[in-house]
Order: sequence, then C-alpha cells, then structure tokens
Amino acid sequence: MAGFIARPGKAMTAEATRIRLTRRPAHELCVQDFLVEQVTVKAPCQGEVLLRARYLSLDPYLARRMCSWDGPQAGAIVGRMIAEVTHSASPHFHNGDIVFAEAPWQDRLVLDAAGLRRVDVTGIAASAWLGVLGSSGITAWAGVRKIIAPRAGETLVVSAASGPVGSVAGQLARLAGARVIGIAGGAEKCRYVREHLRFDACVDHRGSDFPAALAAATPDGIDALFENVGANTLDPVLQRMNKGGRVALCGLFQHYQDENPVCLKHFRNLLDKAIRVQGFHVSDYAAEFDAAASELASCLRSDTLRHSETVTDGIRNAPQAFIDMLAGRGTGKHLVRVG
Ligand SMILES: NC(=O)c1ccc[n+]([C@@H]2O[C@H](COP(=O)([O-])OP(=O)(O)OC[C@H]3O[C@@H](n4cnc5c(N)ncnc54)[C@H](OP(=O)(O)O)[C@@H]3O)[C@@H](O)[C@H]2O)c1
Repeated sequence: MAGFIARPGKAMTAEATRIRLTRRPAHELCVQDFLVEQVTVKAPCQGEVLLRARYLSLDPYLARRMCSWDGPQAGAIVGRMIAEVTHSASPHFHNGDIVFAEAPWQDRLVLDAAGLRRVDVTGIAASAWLGVLGSSGITAWAGVRKIIAPRAGETLVVSAASGPVGSVAGQLARLAGARVIGIAGGAEKCRYVREHLRFDACVDHRGSDFPAALAAATPDGIDALFENVGANTLDPVLQRMNKGGRVALCGLFQHYQDENPVCLKHFRNLLDKAIRVQGFHVSDYAAEFDAAASELASCLRSDTLRHSETVTDGIRNAPQAFIDMLAGRGTGKHLVRVG
C-alpha cells in the first residue's frame, strides 16, 4: 500500500495531516482556535477502506458545532468530504471509486465502508457533489419545491443569494415563473446575482438604506421568502410581506456564532398577514435526494442552473478558508481542494 510502512510484528501505518480545534472558540472563530497535526493511520481491516480526501466542504453548520464544543470528542471537526478510495478491504468499493463521506478533516483516513456513498463523476466535477448537487443544492430544492411552491408572477425574496443554497433557491423559483429578488452583501455580489445567476434584481443589505432599497425592488410586496440569514434580512422582508405569505426558514447564519436571542421588530406581521413560517432540515427529505440531485444535474447540463465555487488549495489552509466563508468572502460553494 503506497505510503504505508511495515514494521516487524506491528500493523502497517502511514502518516496523515488532520485539522482539529484546540479550544472552544470565543465569540468569533480565529485561526488560533485550530491545530494542524500529523496523525498515524492504520491499514484498513476487513469492511474498511483507505481514503484520500479530495475536497472538504466548508459549511455554516460546522460553526454552530464548533461553538457548542463539549464533551470528550471536543475538537474533532467532522464534516462532509469527497474522497477517493485508494485501498479497499470491502467488497462494495474498488480502488479509484469516488465517494461522499462525513469524516474528520484529514487528508488520508480509514473508514467503515458502510457509511460511504459512491458518486458518479462522469461528466460532472467531483466537487459538485458537495455543492450544487449535494446538500446545498438539495436544501434549496426542498425549500422551494416542498415548502414555498412558488407560483408564476409571485415575488420571492432570497437572502444570502450568492451562496450555494440561496443561488440555487432563487434560480429554481425563477424557473417556476416567480419574480426573484436576491439579497447580498456588496455591489460585486449583487452584480453576480443579477448577471450570472439571472435573478430579476438584487438588493445590497450593506447599502445605506436597505429597507428603502428592498421596498423599491418589491413594489407589489413580497409573497415568499427563502431565509438563510436571520434578523438583518428577515425583519425588513417581514415588514413587506403580503397576506398569506410563506417563509421557508432554512438557516440563521448571522446568529450561529453568538447566543443572543433573535429579535424581530415586525414579528406581529406574521399574525396580521397570516404568514406561514416553516423551518426545515435537508435530512427530512433524504428519500428524495437522488431524484432532486438528478433533476439539478440535468438543469446544470442545460445551463438553466448556474453555480460557482470558491476553492482554497491545501488542507493546512482549511481554517482560514473556513473563517473566510463565515465572513462572506467569495461566492458560491466554499471548498478546500486537498489534493
Ligand atoms: N436547513 C438545512 O437543512 C440547511 C442545509 C444547508 C444549509 N443551511 C443553511 O442555509 C444558509 C445558507 O447556507 P450557505 O452554505 O449557502 O451559506 P453562504 O450563503 O455561503 O453563507 C451565508 C451568507 O450569509 C450572508 N450573511 C452573513 N451574515 C449576514 C448578516 N449579518 N446580514 C446579512 N447577510 C449576512 C453572507 O452573504 P453576503 O456576503 O451576501 O452578505 C454569507 O456569505 C445557512 O444559514 C446554512 O446554515 C440549512
């Protein structure tokens, strides 16, 4: 096995690079919270496979986990990755298979084959299985199709519109005939959302008068909201929602790194306008993952769905890349290319 060392009377081992947390992060994560270390990997036993990580997925939910660090496993960062099987001791996988795994941030690792899912990379970049065809894209699909169900001519707003979830949500709503308004931070991201993703308009939440700009972009009010952020965007949108509006509450990104309550000035509009708010988790739709992914893949191939990736090279750079993602630097799916 390449890279493995055999010592007389001992199991074969190899070195791997792992990233873990060294302490419970304070208010905001910083690189000093992380440690890059060398660990030893044993050769796979029967039913296991040796993997080489190809891409790590940088997802906001990991910040919530890191900030609620507790117990003996504290410090381990277990996230989503795409990896290549480099040595299989399982009858279900072959060397060279590309798989999706939930595993520690580590460049080489041995996992039980039972927890792996093979992905098809024929004509599709492996990284897409972490973003547009992975949980980000499927989350968007679930919120738009199963919760909001937009109708032609309705006005739908999407927050964090340039991100991997918001970008797909807005495009799916447009394909259903809705007028789609994105919310993003800064002129460059707003331009990307309008010109590349083809939203009808995009409002800069960092602009001098965000509520006024939102009002100008939604002259007929707002029928539906795909919410990814929290009070900053939710509150001004709630103020403009029409009677019978629907909100797919997908995420509260802005509130993941603090424990303060979420305060809404326009909460009473939920009552006055009979608005339905539904929180959801992509895992609730596990039975439909394959169908959703194949629909998204065919939209990708026909260019009715567009996406982008912000890719950082090298597992050692994962902590800074993760912090950059939390700070909203870059567009689309944030990934680390391990090798
Ligand atoms: N329910 C589920 O099953 C599920 C599954 C996956 C993801 N999610 C959630 O979906 C949301 C989007 O995920 P993602 O991976 O696509 O993230 P993302 O868009 O890459 O990142 C979140 C974006 O939120 C915006 N933002 C951050 N703080 C803000 C603030 N104070 N005010 C306004 N905007 C702010 C930033 O965009 P700008 O730079 O444009 O401001 C940032 O890039 C997250 O909340 C995530 O937890 C939920």
